[in-house]
Formats: sequence, C-alpha cells, structure tokens
Amino acid sequence: MTTLTDDQKTTLTNDAGIPVEGPIVVTLDGPAGTGKSTVARLLAARLGLDFLDTGAMYRAAAAIALDHKIDLADVPAVLERVVDADLHFDWTTDPPAILAWLKPLNERIRDTDVTKAVSQIAAIGKVREHMVRKQRLIGQQHPRLVTEGRDQGSVVFPDAAVKFYLDADPAVRARRRREQMLEAGIDAPSEDVLLQDILLRDSRDSTRADGPLICPDDAMRIDTSPITIDEVVDLLVVKVRVKLAAASS
Ligand code: DC
Repeated sequence: MTTLTDDQKTTLTNDAGIPVEGPIVVTLDGPAGTGKSTVARLLAARLGLDFLDTGAMYRAAAAIALDHKIDLADVPAVLERVVDADLHFDWTTDPPAILAWLKPLNERIRDTDVTKAVSQIAAIGKVREHMVRKQRLIGQQHPRLVTEGRDQGSVVFPDAAVKFYLDADPAVRARRRREQMLEAGIDAPSEDVLLQDILLRDSRDSTRADGPLICPDDAMRIDTSPITIDEVVDLLVVKVRVKLAAASS
C-alpha cells in the first residue's frame, strides 16, 4: 500500500477537482427564483459535498407558527415553539428532509400560506440568531458543505472557501417560480401576482435589520437570467475549481 505524505493528501482531488479531504464550505446566496436551491443541490452532488437548504429552516418555522395558530407578531411565542420543535435534517434523504419534533414536514413548507408568512418570520432577530447557531452547528457536523440562503456568505460562514451570489431579472424569477409550482402540482397564481410577491419578499429580505440579503464583497455574482440551471451548475463547478486551485497555490 502506498502511504501519502501530508502534502500529497492535500492536493488529492475528486472527479470535480475538489480536494477529497478537509472542510470546504461553498455558500450560495441570492433572492428567490434564481434557481438557487436546485443549483445548490446539483452543485453539492457534483462536488461530492453535503447540501444545506437554510430557507427550509425558516419555512419550517413559519409552518410551525401557522399550524399552532401563533400570532406571527408574538415573537416570544413564535420563538418558544420553534426552539421546542428542535429542527433537524434527515441526512439520509436527498435532499435532506427537515424534521420538527422528529417528524418530517414534507411539502407543508412549500405551501402558499407558508411562503407568504416566511419573510415575516425570517425578519425576527431572535429566530435568526437561533437559526444561525443551528446552521453553524450543522457546518461543524457537515464540514464539506454547499449551503444556500440569504446570509450564508455574509453572516453564517464569513470564512467560506467559495462564495456565490445568484441573481436574475425579477420577471424571469416570477416565470421560473410559476413553472416550478406547476411542476410540483401546486395551483400557481399568474406571473404578475408572483412578480409582486417576489418584489415584496425581496424588499423585506434586503431591508431587515438582521441578516439582510446582501451580496458579500468577496462573493462571485452570477446573473442566471439568460442561462439554464445546468449551465449555471457547470459554470459554478469551474469557478469552484479555479478558486480552490488559486487558494492552494
Ligand atoms: O429560499 P426560500 O424561498 O426557501 O426562503 C424562504 C424565506 O426564508 C425567504 O423569505 C428568505 C428567508 N431566508 C432567510 O431570511 N435567510 C436564509 N438564510 C434563508 C432564507
């Protein structure tokens, strides 16, 4: 058996040109409808890394508040129930399913009422603190990670090896959202209605005091409007390779 020196080990890479050992965090932030979730999941698979959907955590919190008929403005009550739910992911499923009180929430987190309520929940500082703590813990348990959200590169993993910010024209995002909903068998409103929802959510997400949606200075900004999901993934794989190669040279 050949024994590798420490130096050789750090330069060993997998098919995607990614070092096979050691922590690697890749963050993807950006507004809704840029294809970010799908891109992050495919990118993680291509790079052989785990995938964290932090939007699912805020969606789970919103679903819990709604299903327990908690007034969304009653911050202590929302926080108490969300903490009690002990949100976890089941890492044996693809994508990892989010669990509350050990039970999968499944598609409940994608329902229209949850989508409408979630930015209000995500604006609660105490809820964000709780989620950021959980996400960093997940980062320790899954140190080879592609994580997507709004604040992953700016707040949660400021030292991430590679950071992306995905953006797209709002009209394109509304069209994609509608297609996604129809594919998932969800009764989709018109593109105009979705566009208004998206603009409202963008404005709430980027103007809140805690963890607002911003493009970190050291993130690579990608406009996904003119390219397909597969093209975005191919582009990001190349950019991750180049960034990691530059960092190790
Ligand atoms: O990406 P998504 O649509 O599943 O996100 C749901 C909501 O959660 C959206 O309003 C933005 C918010 N969110 C957030 O504030 N911070 C994150 N890290 C992830 C999502």
